[in-house]
Amino acid sequence: MMLLLVYIILWIPNSNGAVTHTYDLSTYMPSKFVSMFSVSWYGIGPTDPQGPGPDSYTNHWSVGAQGTCIPNANPSNCSTEYSTQPQRQISSRYRPLAGIYSSSGKNLESQRRIDLMLSTLRNQSSSSPSCDYGHARLDAWSIQLESIQLSSKYLSNPSLNVEIPYQAYIHFLQRSKTNSIIPGYDSTWLYSFSSNLGLGKCDNSNQTNSRDRCLNTTIKDFVDIVKMTNMSTSYLINQKPVIFIYTSLGGNLLNASEWSSIWTSVRNQVNLDFYAIATTSSLINQFDAIAPWVDYVAWTMTSSNLPTYNRTLKWLSLVYGPLLQSVLPTGRVIIGGLSSGFDDYTESWGACQNRTIPRETQLLQAQFDYFRINQITRLFIYTWDDFTEGSIVEPDVRNGTWALLNIRQMIGTFYNETQNVTADQMLIDRWTNYPQLRNCTTIQVTSIPSIDLSC
Ligand SMILES: *[C@@H]1O[C@H](CO)[C@@H](O)[C@H](O)[C@H]1NC(C)=O
Ligand SMILES: *[C@@H]1O[C@H](CO)[C@@H](O)[C@H](O)[C@H]1NC(C)=O
Ligand SMILES: *[C@@H]1O[C@H](CO)[C@@H](O)[C@H](O)[C@H]1NC(C)=O
Ligand SMILES: *[C@@H]1O[C@H](CO)[C@@H](O)[C@H](O)[C@H]1NC(C)=O
Ligand SMILES: *[C@@H]1O[C@H](CO)[C@@H](O)[C@H](O)[C@H]1NC(C)=O
Ligand SMILES: *[C@@H]1O[C@H](CO)[C@@H](O)[C@H](O)[C@H]1NC(C)=O
Ligand SMILES: *[C@@H]1O[C@H](CO)[C@@H](O)[C@H](O)[C@H]1NC(C)=O
Ligand SMILES: *[C@@H]1O[C@H](CO)[C@@H](O)[C@H](O)[C@H]1NC(C)=O
Ligand SMILES: *[C@@H]1O[C@H](CO)[C@@H](O)[C@H](O)[C@H]1NC(C)=O
Ligand SMILES: *[C@@H]1O[C@H](CO)[C@@H](O)[C@H](O)[C@H]1NC(C)=O
Ligand SMILES: *[C@@H]1O[C@H](CO)[C@@H](O)[C@H](O)[C@H]1NC(C)=O
Ligand SMILES: *[C@@H]1O[C@H](CO)[C@@H](O)[C@H](O)[C@H]1NC(C)=O
Repeated sequence: MMLLLVYIILWIPNSNGAVTHTYDLSTYMPSKFVSMFSVSWYGIGPTDPQGPGPDSYTNHWSVGAQGTCIPNANPSNCSTEYSTQPQRQISSRYRPLAGIYSSSGKNLESQRRIDLMLSTLRNQSSSSPSCDYGHARLDAWSIQLESIQLSSKYLSNPSLNVEIPYQAYIHFLQRSKTNSIIPGYDSTWLYSFSSNLGLGKCDNSNQTNSRDRCLNTTIKDFVDIVKMTNMSTSYLINQKPVIFIYTSLGGNLLNASEWSSIWTSVRNQVNLDFYAIATTSSLINQFDAIAPWVDYVAWTMTSSNLPTYNRTLKWLSLVYGPLLQSVLPTGRVIIGGLSSGFDDYTESWGACQNRTIPRETQLLQAQFDYFRINQITRLFIYTWDDFTEGSIVEPDVRNGTWALLNIRQMIGTFYNETQNVTADQMLIDRWTNYPQLRNCTTIQVTSIPSIDLSC
């Protein structure tokens, strides 16, 4: 009788749709898991020399002047600085091999670029492992979001900084052919720019600077984000969506106890449980997994006299050592945050200090080796397209498909899969044959190629 009563009480659904979270990701997460992370914040405006783009202005290809060291970039201008062929001038030490583009997916040109990015994903529906169209062996793709509350879902004239990633997320969900899309939320953005966003300082210093109001916006964003994972192309584990959150601590950024109350509030409002991945180790109790972000400060604490391979191992032991040596709370997962390097165009956002982590094959090799030795089997790759700070995997004019191809091959070795040089070449060809639709010749964008994923 007693048992029956308990059973009934446990199974009466809460009228609010509240769900209780179980920390069991380590049981259900596939041991083969690789996700790419993209910032997805590029826009092409109406006055582009190659014809109008889909966005209200050209966004993020220029981050403006930075201090005394970095002048403004002009994406409408061309220079031969990085190749013999003229290239659009952008705030980067690199130039996209397939040319500048809009991330938003608001027209066919932009949607085909999303298809090109999605061609890096494995075909999970294929029963034949030999169907290898030259993908990069990725299982998932995560799109950075700044806010849903401040997007066109709720505002008639949203900031493009919010709107382009929001549109990119919607269009990645629509264009994907597999269950592969992970929302990625930048939890620092709203707090860094809260005053500009009309949210005050979020520090309770007076009524207009209410912290609660900012927390409520964050909570509403997560409620929407979790609801949006009802699309059939969202990445699921144990039938639950996975959300990725760029986290950082300090200043007025969210602290650990705020994260606890945010998750309680969100889970009280959505009738669906989910797994959440953070980028900072100290939030291991509040999240299901940690995928450490590119830690440049830790890099500076390693000796520059070491060869890149050895230095990378020292770097990773600073970043992962404390987590690996601790007893993890139940069900948590350590994910390898794999980076192609760092080559910061802004010289530390105008501070005139160069920040570089060498973009070399040995850096990639050492990371894969470190993860294998330490039994870290799941990976998040940082980043696809942060051209500004130079952590790109996207093929570029200087290094071609170097990062993408090496990552494909190293993932193969990491998971004991067979290499396939024919398919490697398909990956290379797909990128080198894709035209720069917005190059430096004064023509209109006419023929937009489709992406062939046949084997
Ligand atoms: C265009 O680029 C060239 C070469 O980098 C530079 O000399 C020139 O000042 C640029 N023009 C504008 C308008 O930015
Ligand atoms: C995946 O493979 C299946 C079966 O081989 C095929 O029908 C489908 O078109 C493929 N999808 C993609 C995106 O390549
Ligand atoms: C390599 O990839 C090609 C192209 O998809 C495919 O035809 C071939 O069967 C693959 N080879 C192996 C050994 O998987
Ligand atoms: C609250 O503080 C801001 C500065 O952060 C100030 O501009 C504003 O006038 C103050 N509002 C009130 C109601 O005191
Ligand atoms: C935040 O949300 C809570 C719960 O919905 C509400 O009681 C509170 O008034 C909100 N605070 C602000 C400042 O909007
Ligand atoms: C997902 O949920 C939203 C509301 O949150 C709804 O508008 C949309 O139609 C749903 N999509 C699917 C595919 O169920
Ligand atoms: C976290 O932030 C809240 C304000 O929202 C504050 O009351 C609390 O003391 C902070 N906790 C820590 C450990 O700093
Ligand atoms: C670098 O690492 C390799 C392989 O672990 C080792 O053989 C070599 O001695 C190391 N070199 C230095 C300078 O530490
Ligand atoms: C940073 O590196 C770039 C490229 O190597 C160089 O041109 C620039 O002078 C360096 N800046 C500083 C402040 O050393
Ligand atoms: C990438 O290109 C830069 C500039 O040409 C070069 O210094 C670097 O060695 C290249 N890296 C690789 C891995 O090819
Ligand atoms: C790859 O093979 C090695 C040696 O057989 C094995 O120890 C390792 O667990 C395998 N790795 C994966 C990811 O399956
Ligand atoms: C620009 O693109 C057009 C059309 O694809 C092509 O004919 C032209 O050669 C390209 N020019 C450069 C400099 O890449």
